[in-house]
Amino acid sequence: MNPPAKREQWSGQYGFILAAVGSAIGLGNIWRFPGVAYTNGGGAFLVPYLVALLTAGIPILLLDYSLGHRYRGSSPTVFRRISRKWEALGWFHVLICLVIMAYYAVILAWAVRYMFFSVNEAWGENTLNFFVGDFLQLSDPGASSEVVPGIFWPLVAVWAAAAIVIALGVTRGLEKLSRFFIPFLIVIFAALVVRALFLPGAAEGLNAFFTPNWSALANPQVWIAAYSQIFFSLSVAFGIMLTYSSYLGKRTDVTSTGFVTGLANSSFEILAGIGVFATLGYMAMQSGVGVSELEGITGPILSFVTFPAIISLMPGGPVFGFVFFASLTIAGFTSLVSLIQVVSAAVQEKFGLRRRLASLIATGVAGVASVFVFSTTNGLNALDVVDKFINELGIVTAAIVMTGLITFVAKKLPELRHHLNYYSSIKIGSWWYALVGVVTPAILTVTLVLTAYSLITEGYDSYPQTFVYQYGWFMIVAVVFISFILSFVPWRTNVDDYDPVAFHDAGASLTK
Ligand code: ALA
Repeated sequence: MNPPAKREQWSGQYGFILAAVGSAIGLGNIWRFPGVAYTNGGGAFLVPYLVALLTAGIPILLLDYSLGHRYRGSSPTVFRRISRKWEALGWFHVLICLVIMAYYAVILAWAVRYMFFSVNEAWGENTLNFFVGDFLQLSDPGASSEVVPGIFWPLVAVWAAAAIVIALGVTRGLEKLSRFFIPFLIVIFAALVVRALFLPGAAEGLNAFFTPNWSALANPQVWIAAYSQIFFSLSVAFGIMLTYSSYLGKRTDVTSTGFVTGLANSSFEILAGIGVFATLGYMAMQSGVGVSELEGITGPILSFVTFPAIISLMPGGPVFGFVFFASLTIAGFTSLVSLIQVVSAAVQEKFGLRRRLASLIATGVAGVASVFVFSTTNGLNALDVVDKFINELGIVTAAIVMTGLITFVAKKLPELRHHLNYYSSIKIGSWWYALVGVVTPAILTVTLVLTAYSLITEGYDSYPQTFVYQYGWFMIVAVVFISFILSFVPWRTNVDDYDPVAFHDAGASLTK
């Protein structure tokens, strides 16, 4: 049995915040948020969004931080240290990350290609045909073994770059990457937004984005959309922030770090909404229609079809396009490595492997799945279904199980709150129990039931039922099943041998 290796550590709080913000700010902020906000009530969406941030996002972020920081390990290690029976929940986190990173990397590969397509606006007149036809060579939904070379090679490059960062480790790899790229991203993205604000028609776009449709607040789907957006975007409840906080020094002020991360992520998200809608306002004006008549405002179509069309219209389009796709690539890459770290840390700790080998295994397994499922002609269909199921069923289930177990079975909230407050300047009050133990699981349970019901009765989008079974339901069942199997595999390290922060005050009784 190997003794646990000495734990790597961030160089300090600043380095950690940049890495955590790097993980949070990703594709979710740039392409997901603007469309989700617009289709769910525009300005009025900001109400459920902020409610979700304050009642679930930041409280669960603090829960993730307290778990990782107190139990000092990857997800399986943390849950195993709380109770042997719960290790499977940790592996569930790991597999969720594995699935997400497999398709997340593909979107980065597309963004890299589009960065270069921007230079000569290679998409031509019909950007939709270019994207689904020439570029993706999209087939009808159904398994395909036909790999598209124009996606395969950039995808291999993305995985190779990610493997190098993970192999370099927490401080030399993850932290250095974010220290350089996050300030750079903020500067170039802010410049992009300022440019967009000076486009003719920008004000119309902002009006469309911010005009509140208050009646949307009565629709439960709008609240579901807000909560799922916050979870995905803040990288909470599926192991990332938990793993990252396990590399913090013991005497760290964890709470203020959590507030900074949450607010920075949401500020960037709203900035992205402003930039995207100012640009859409320009497009509407050029096409002589209202912003509400524009199509293709959500998901991949927004970034890879609508934006290229706008880039072709505007003066200085190639530079704007290059910076936009570079921002997408950078934001996505600093999130991709955080997903991989969850897997790599778990493999390293469970099997007592060296960091480099663990990172090679993590990137290798996900990279192969990523290439053979998502760089094929069926890639976009598979991505769409997998993304829907893993986020709206997988992450939501993980969050309900985690909050339920910690609150009612292990009854750990008082100890974790004491831990958070022990070295922190902002003290967390008992309101946290209510939010983590009652409000979040209750809202998420309603969300889960409604989503599952609609998927069972109506299927998903216009995809054939067998396709949704294979890539949606079967995938989720396999993830749960493999999580249990992995929890029965014996440990090769002394997982139970660890040293939590000892309380030298009245809180000592909480750990008994
Ligand atoms: N938090 C990451 C994103 O927003 C996963 O894309």
